[in-house]
Amino acid sequence: MAQAVRVGGKGATAAWKRGPYAFEYARIAVADPAASSEFYQRHVGLDVSGRKDGRVYLRAGNEHHCIELVKDAAAKTSKVLALGFSVDDDEALAEIRDRVTAAGHAVGPLDPLQKGFCSDGFATKDPTGLTIELFTGFQVFAEAPMLEYRPTCIVHPFLGTEKYDETLTFYLDVMGFRASDYIANASAFLRSENRFHHSLAMRRSKAFEIAHICFQMKSFDHMMRGRAKAIYHKVKIGADMANHSGSRSLAFYMEDEAHGPKIELCDGHEILSPEDHERRKPRIMAIDPRNIDVWRAAEDDWHDL
Ligand SMILES: [Fe+2]
Repeated sequence: MAQAVRVGGKGATAAWKRGPYAFEYARIAVADPAASSEFYQRHVGLDVSGRKDGRVYLRAGNEHHCIELVKDAAAKTSKVLALGFSVDDDEALAEIRDRVTAAGHAVGPLDPLQKGFCSDGFATKDPTGLTIELFTGFQVFAEAPMLEYRPTCIVHPFLGTEKYDETLTFYLDVMGFRASDYIANASAFLRSENRFHHSLAMRRSKAFEIAHICFQMKSFDHMMRGRAKAIYHKVKIGADMANHSGSRSLAFYMEDEAHGPKIELCDGHEILSPEDHERRKPRIMAIDPRNIDVWRAAEDDWHDL
């Protein structure tokens, strides 16, 4: 058993524990699933993997889905209903379930339809009230979609919350994520067992938000094709090209609230080595535009946060 790594954040002591394996999907309520499905196909490169009970499932790679659209005809804007994270095996799932229970969080069943796409699992809520689903045996397709323009995978959600400290403690100490980096006491980048620099990130906000969901494209060229498609089809570029100090990924963000949170398309998100995954001590970086985008030249060189 490796030594525990001391991490920052109030109450975040990170005993060495197994966390989720990977971020797998967002379940999103939208007014028009057909229109939203079209958006995710055209602009993100996803492929429809199935339809059931009015829901539309879309995938990036082999996993059954990474976006699940649920019809809510009355919805004025989209709303994320749940986030799903896979877990390596039954033992790790039981450990996480035990920690959730011990920490006083409710444990409930998975969404009934999600039960059909995995082996076992449960749902809980984080301190923001967001539903988190954890499961083993997420079903896959034998092959990835036969599309040239598509992501390799969904990478992370980015949450904002006014309950930053307790939410950070929940994801570190209860869920079992590990801290890769912090920006002061305002943002945290947390990794899971797939060793991506972050499979979940969060920031201190005035109110709860899912700030964005990130997908990794096949290459820088594919990511730039996504940017060109967005511009051509007049999708709002919520934030343009950035080089992130944490994951060192290059990315832009597009925005259409009818279909979901902002969508980040990136290239080159760092994957830690097994050794670094065990031993990395998170940096605590200064609050500065140059730590949001290392291409920025000066402390006041950012205007669209
Ligand atoms: Fe991101």
